[in-house]
Amino acid sequence: MEIYSEKQQITDAIDGLKAKKQTIGMVPTMGALHNGHLQLVKKALTDNDKVVVSIFVNPTQFDDKDDLKNYPRTLESDVNLLSTVSKTNILVYAPTVKDIYEGNAVSQNFDFDGLEFEMEGKFRNGHFNGVGTIVKRFFDIVKPHKGYFGEKDFQQLTIIKKLVEKYDIPVTIVGCKIHREPNGLAMSSRNTRLKPDYKIAAPFIYKTLKSAKEKFGIKSATKVKEWVEKQFAKHDLLVLEYFIIADVKTLQPIKRKSNKKAYRAFIAVYADDIRLIDNIALN
Ligand code: PAJ
Repeated sequence: MEIYSEKQQITDAIDGLKAKKQTIGMVPTMGALHNGHLQLVKKALTDNDKVVVSIFVNPTQFDDKDDLKNYPRTLESDVNLLSTVSKTNILVYAPTVKDIYEGNAVSQNFDFDGLEFEMEGKFRNGHFNGVGTIVKRFFDIVKPHKGYFGEKDFQQLTIIKKLVEKYDIPVTIVGCKIHREPNGLAMSSRNTRLKPDYKIAAPFIYKTLKSAKEKFGIKSATKVKEWVEKQFAKHDLLVLEYFIIADVKTLQPIKRKSNKKAYRAFIAVYADDIRLIDNIALN
């Protein structure tokens, strides 16, 4: 499997493939790959001739220095895992901070029509400017036909669609379902850092989301929110940061339930110092 670390190398490789009329899919990741990532890669491989998987822990999207420092970096095992999916049709793009940011690792400021101020945007300062900056850069360099993003980060997926629309980037964004552990916990690179007790406790997050979905059918959004907050207040280990029911298009918190709108519940929880997020479609 080819691993590219320099912009020029990957651009040359892509130009060569495009000259042969090959279609290119791209799966941007921060590595520490798990089965959730692999689902995106598999989907991209069925839709395209070649798939670029970027592996890059993007410093500009972290507002917490320790989180950035502790983020797992496992390039060798990532490449091994990817080669179990395809040895011939995946190109790994693992740039250095210096190469991709050309010595200037700062974010561009974006206007995502307010999507960036909700949920993760409220709790992670500057996060979506960092995500927008790196994904725009990846699309400029790789110029994929299609880009694959998980619903695990539903707000990110919505913002990437907005980025592509606003900047007229010629790429189709494909959203992919959340991949879960058998116990319901959404797969995440951060799960590997959970201490044993927290690993056992963490499936409570999805269990609560599923109950919230059931309750949403018969109760008001406020009542559902109160119920969820109470469940976490009683929990010994997990600390709720937010639970929000929002419109899937605007990501604005629900005011009054409407049959014409689609809603999702979004949650962020601390399991000790590990921050976990999840979400569920409600209707
Ligand atoms: P990362 O957290 O590595 O995730 C890479 C992609 O995998 C994202 O689109 C994410 O939504 C998806 N993903 C992660 N866990 C998933 C799961 N359990 N089921 C389905 N999809 C899942 O998201 C990022 O990296 C970064 O912000 C990035 C877009 C690469 C920009 O730096």
